[in-house]
Amino acid sequence: MTGHTTFSADSNRKSRHLYQLINVLSGVVAMRDPYTASHQQNVARLARCIAQDLMLDDQQIEAVRVAATLHDIGKISIPLEILSKPGKLTAEEFALVTTHCRNGARLLETVDFPWPIGEIILHHHERLDGSGYPQGLRGNQIRLEARIIGVADTVDAVLSHRPYRPGKTLRDVTLILENGAGTIFDAEIVAACLRILDGRSPSHQFWRPDDQPMTAVSDRLTQQYSLTA
Ligand SMILES: [Fe+2]
Repeated sequence: MTGHTTFSADSNRKSRHLYQLINVLSGVVAMRDPYTASHQQNVARLARCIAQDLMLDDQQIEAVRVAATLHDIGKISIPLEILSKPGKLTAEEFALVTTHCRNGARLLETVDFPWPIGEIILHHHERLDGSGYPQGLRGNQIRLEARIIGVADTVDAVLSHRPYRPGKTLRDVTLILENGAGTIFDAEIVAACLRILDGRSPSHQFWRPDDQPMTAVSDRLTQQYSLTA
């Protein structure tokens, strides 16, 4: 009984340390680039809702949430001028941005997560038809968790205001998802995402806490993580 209690206390402590580490890593990103920080939080919330709507098991839902929270951590190696550049990136700049998937996976490879976080992060820009990066994987070669994050990532990127363009509408993002369903995005994941976006899924309430518009949620998270001296 004593041994069991010790084991349980030890495992609770390890689990607490793991979540503290995740928060620290997320805070490091937030200190450098508030946009990436709020983007990761938005993607984590939507990706988790999609995973719940698809009725994945609890461990897979948590894997999706944690990997989404850290999915762009590899951008720490990309100059901020490139990340927020107004206008189109040059081929060299785009090539540099694509390294964030491998860099993120490499950064986390020594952490003993109970989920395949590194592999999910490595796959999050892969697309069903092989047009993604960094490996050009296709279909089921791409981890399911990464396919979910890829859809949630697209939604937040399209809806968000950026220095070089205003955020688009839910109608715009719906068209992008519908056009890509079955070709670049997993059709089942798109269907789950659309159920959340239009309020048909019970998970909808967790996507936009307090039913705030997406931009308001982004702004609040940006303020929360901004370092104002
Ligand atoms: Fe990314």
